[in-house]
Amino acid sequence: MSVGISGMLVVVGLIFGFGSMVCCVNATKFDELFQPSWAFDHFDYEGELLKLKLDRNSGAGFGSKSKYMFGKVTIQIKLVEGDSAGTVTAFYMSSDGPNHNEFDFEFLGNTTGEPYSVQTNIYVNGVGNREQRLSLWFDPTKDFHSYAIVWSPKHVVFLVDDTPIRVHTNMEKHGLPFPKDQPMGVYSSIWNADDWATQGGRIKTDWNHAPFIASYKGFGINACECSVSVTAAENVKKCTSNGSNRFWWDEPTLQELNVHQSHQLVWVRARHMFYDYCTDTARFPVKPAECEHHRH
Ligand SMILES: *[C@@H]1O[C@H](CO)[C@@H](O)[C@H](O)[C@H]1NC(C)=O
Repeated sequence: MSVGISGMLVVVGLIFGFGSMVCCVNATKFDELFQPSWAFDHFDYEGELLKLKLDRNSGAGFGSKSKYMFGKVTIQIKLVEGDSAGTVTAFYMSSDGPNHNEFDFEFLGNTTGEPYSVQTNIYVNGVGNREQRLSLWFDPTKDFHSYAIVWSPKHVVFLVDDTPIRVHTNMEKHGLPFPKDQPMGVYSSIWNADDWATQGGRIKTDWNHAPFIASYKGFGINACECSVSVTAAENVKKCTSNGSNRFWWDEPTLQELNVHQSHQLVWVRARHMFYDYCTDTARFPVKPAECEHHRH
């Protein structure tokens, strides 16, 4: 399937003269990209909509069939309506193994009428502890909104409806590790986390309101697909721009946020962010090294 799609892209690329730009799986159908990982009986398919259910017995989760290096993954989600206290819906990319990398969106439910919180986190070489939390500028339970992760050799950007809410910049020049040599899968799941998720764990899941349902549509992966049959080093080579090949994320204009996006990020941080590990001096008496270099 993806061969056909990349073939088509090559043709489109030739017609429109992208020249040597190479790309990508660029697919949008759930079945082409993903498969259920657990609790198959907690999935409902309604045309283009997918619903994941959480009840007393189980949550549910799905994952991408392939792994990728660099690109953009997008999903539209409508979060659990009404009482979602104690539930967490996550959308993330992750590699495998003890030194894994991970980029997380975690949507923390709340009691009826109280706002969801969005937690993001980044693991590099198996180490996380880079949480940020924000409120949203809309009610994420009323409509579908798009949540995306852009991953390039230069940065990781988290986007909500195309507004950047977080940028994690490659600071290898300051001696800090950056995730860029492990293929990552794309995952989503809903589960019960009432020991910590809502108001610090004080509010428990009310199972009388189950099933809790998260709805999905608009799946998109525009990324370099890795082959399972070759070594990590070969995948890195395949997915890295060189003289004859160039990926869209290596375009000079995409190496950092544009002016408009920078303003959006400043606005999000000023108006909506209420926790940033970088400023949590109780937890980190010594400021984490990457925070020293953050421009925002
Ligand atoms: C839930 O609502 C309370 C009260 O508005 C708020 O303090 C909290 O940040 C919200 N989110 C979570 C996940 O508890």
